[in-house]
Order: sequence, then C-alpha cells, then structure tokens
Amino acid sequence: MKRYITTPIYYASGAPHLGHVYTTWLADCARRAAMMDGVETRLVTGTDEHGQKIERAAARAGQTPAQFVAGRSAGFRNLWQGLGIEAEFVRTTDPDHEAVVLDFWSRLVRAGDLYKGHYTGLYCVDCEQYQTGDVAECAVHRRALETHSEDSWFFRLSAYRGQLIDHIRTHPEFILPESRRNEVLAFLEGQELTDLSVSRTSTTWGIPVPDDESHVLYVWVDALVSYLSALGPLDSEQARPWQTCMHHFIGKDILIFHAVYWPAMLLSAGLQLPASIVVNGWLTVEGRKIAKSDPATIVDPLVPAVEFGNAALAFYFLKSVGLGADLNYDGVEVARALDVDLANNLGNLVSRIVKFVARKHAGLVPAGRTGELVQHSCNGAAEVRAALAAFETARAGRQVLADLARVNAYLQQEAPWKQPDAARANAVIGEAAAALCITLNAAWPVLGELAVQGLRAFGLDLANSWDVNPVPGAVDETCLPIYARRGGS
Ligand code: MSP
Repeated sequence: MKRYITTPIYYASGAPHLGHVYTTWLADCARRAAMMDGVETRLVTGTDEHGQKIERAAARAGQTPAQFVAGRSAGFRNLWQGLGIEAEFVRTTDPDHEAVVLDFWSRLVRAGDLYKGHYTGLYCVDCEQYQTGDVAECAVHRRALETHSEDSWFFRLSAYRGQLIDHIRTHPEFILPESRRNEVLAFLEGQELTDLSVSRTSTTWGIPVPDDESHVLYVWVDALVSYLSALGPLDSEQARPWQTCMHHFIGKDILIFHAVYWPAMLLSAGLQLPASIVVNGWLTVEGRKIAKSDPATIVDPLVPAVEFGNAALAFYFLKSVGLGADLNYDGVEVARALDVDLANNLGNLVSRIVKFVARKHAGLVPAGRTGELVQHSCNGAAEVRAALAAFETARAGRQVLADLARVNAYLQQEAPWKQPDAARANAVIGEAAAALCITLNAAWPVLGELAVQGLRAFGLDLANSWDVNPVPGAVDETCLPIYARRGGS
C-alpha cells in the first residue's frame, strides 16, 4: 500500500506566507496519519516558476527570471526545513520536469485533444487565468483585468464534461469536503464547458510548445504536471505505483483547476485520476485573505513558529476549524488557545505524572492499564484514526484534547498524591500514565513533535502505528516542559 500526498506548488513570485503553510500543515498531518496506517508515504511540495507573473516579478526585482526563481524557490525550501516539514521538492524549471511535461503534452496530442485557435479575453496575471463574466477586476486579487488577444492551443475540455460528472457522482471521496464537491458539480452541470486555452504567446518564460516555439505551455498545465514529474518518467516502474494513489491538498481558490481541468487532462492522457482532492479554506487576517497582493495581511510564518514552536503552531491550525472553513489569524488568540490546550491540558498533565513518578516511584511507572480510563483512551485513539482517514483534523484535535481532559479529571478526582492506600495510588498513577501514552501515540499526526516529546518523558519512542498501545516505562524529567505558557497569566 502506498499514499502520495501533494501540496500545491507555490508561485515563486513572492516570499512564502502563513497561508501557504496552512495547506502544507494539513498535508503533513495526512502524511503522519498515513505512516500510522503502515502505508508507504510520500509528501511532495515545490515551486511554480514559469509564466508572465514570475517574468514580471523578476523584472521588478532587476533579475533574470532564472536567478529570481532560484532565490524564491530556496526561500520555500528553507521554510519547510525551518518548520520541520519533511517533504520532497519539485521545481518546474528542472529539466526532468520539462521532459515529463512534454511527454504529457504529446499524449494529449495523440488523443486528438489539442487544436490551434485564437483567444481574446480578460486576463488576471496574478491568477494566470482568463476570467469570464461581466467583470473588470479580479475578485481575488482586486486588480484590473488585462485584455489579452493571442493565438492559442486549446485543450478539448468540453469533451470530458460527462465523464467528470459521472466520476464525481460515483466517487464521493474524490472532492472533500462535500460542499466543495457540490460546488464542482454545480459548475459542471450548470453550463457547457468551453475548451481551455493551454498555450501563451504573451510570455517566453515557459516550456516551449513542441513544433510551435512561438508558444509556451500555459503555466497551469506545466504546474499541474509537476504532480507526476515529481515521481519520474510517466511510464517508469518507479513512478507508476504512485500515480494511482494521489491525494492533492489545495486551497479553495484553485479548486476548478484541480477538480475539472486536471482530471480532464489526465483522462485524455490515459492516466489515473487522483484518489482525492482535499480543499482547505482561507487563512485571513482581520477577515481578509492572506495574500501577497495585500501586504498588510502578510505574516512571516517563522515569527509565530519561533514564538510558539513548530508543532504547537501547527496544532493550533489543525484543530481550530473543520476542513474547508476559513480561519482568522490573530497571534493573541493563538497564545490564549495554546495556553489552554497545550500548557494546561497537556503540559501540566505530563509534568504532574512524570514528577510524581520520579519522586515517589524512583522513576518507574507502576503497572496500570486495567481500568476504564485506558479503554476510553483506546476508543479515543480509534476516533482520531477515523477522523484523519476523512482528513478531519479538527475532529481529531478535539478528540485528543477530550482524552487529555479525561485523564486530568481522573487524577483530580482520585488525587493519588493524597491517597493513604499505596496500592490504590500506584494503580491510579499507572492507569493515568498508560491512558495518557495511548493518547499521545495516536495524537502524533496532529501534535507532531509534542507527542514524541511526551512519549519520551515516559521512556517511550513513537510506535508509528495505531495498533500498538505503548506501555510507559521509566520517566525522563529532562523532556519537560512539553509546552510552556506563552500568553498572559
Ligand atoms: N502555483 C499555483 C498552484 C499550482 S498547483 C499545481 C498557486 N500558487 S499560490 O502560491 O498562489 O498558492 C496557492 C495555494 O496556497 C492555495 O491554493 C492554498 O493552498 C495556499 N494558500 C495561499 N494563500 C492562502 C490563504 N490565505 N489561506 C489558505 N491557503 C492559502 O496557486
């Protein structure tokens, strides 16, 4: 079994911001959940480096496009490293990528789905997309649209409408959450599809169209194929098994590209459709989408990451809203929420038990795991697993917090530190520690390093499996604190 998880490849036109990180965290959480499932997993991210938008940004920076994208791409790669996200990285200016794109293009040619025509329309360079309807300004970027008129290659998108509708109707897991699936169905069922313009003459910064070099490939075709080029040549043995288990994590702004254009092109090329397209909402600042084009919204991800720690910050985003909903970013609110969830609920709990065991039990956790509390944690772990199988990180996060709260309440009620009966006190501590470690193990996909550190405080390594319920051993006080307070008193 394999699972191939992708993030969008981010435009190398600007510096990374917190919005980019949000999608990547969701994908990274899915990677950890897949590893818990015992599935061989790859996570691929990267940078989208061609097109007019990049060409213009390079000119503004006084650099050649190649120099410019090298710097920007390194910025993204360093960010993922700084945030502790382990992902492979693809660049669309890489010659191996270009070779796969040309192979992909030739398949569309062989299918008879490419033809030459002329296009006149209103173009948003920031979206790299022609816009339709009676609008003068891009609704996302709030910039005036430009009139473009050019010869163009077209992809016969219109031919795939029926197949796409059938596939989406028969595969409810193809587009998640359901609201986005409904949106795509409404889009497909509400109109005939017009063919897609898939080449440009307005820029030279792109992959030249074979045998027609005054055109470069439309940057979106180039970019989407990165999901395949990251795996190697289309027909290679190394690539094939991964092509059948793709899970694309994207923001809602690029839904139609992924849920309509990309599957249609895959059908044309005779390749497998993605297993699922998982769509997140927007991160906003004071209600406005975080976006390069709105500098007041930009948050450098490393600033809160240093303040709160990578894992804690990621946990905040994973557990705060259901899949697909928007989330407003406010550093004060993050500090408050993490104090409650991680300093009080998690950190104090681990440290109370570990310190008690160190003082009263010579550092060895007494045997436990016989009572109801352990059973509750096992049930909770199963619920975390089910939630993450549906990519519902908020549900998983809430379950983890509820399981931690239950252990806290048990200790509060049983108060082993006041218990005159030593055997009873031992049983309570053993039970609480065992239940806590089961929760920490299952929490790894959402708590990341905090779960690893918590388990280490109980002398355990991550089990990397849902089916192992770890038995705590000797405690290690050097792992404390798990999370210290950041907010007010
Ligand atoms: N290059 C294209 C994607 C090509 S994929 C084959 C692109 N790049 S982008 O830099 O604009 O990044 C898009 C993705 O970044 C969004 O779809 C989303 O996943 C993420 N986000 C960017 N801003 C975001 C928010 N403010 N909030 C949440 N996610 C955001 O489009």
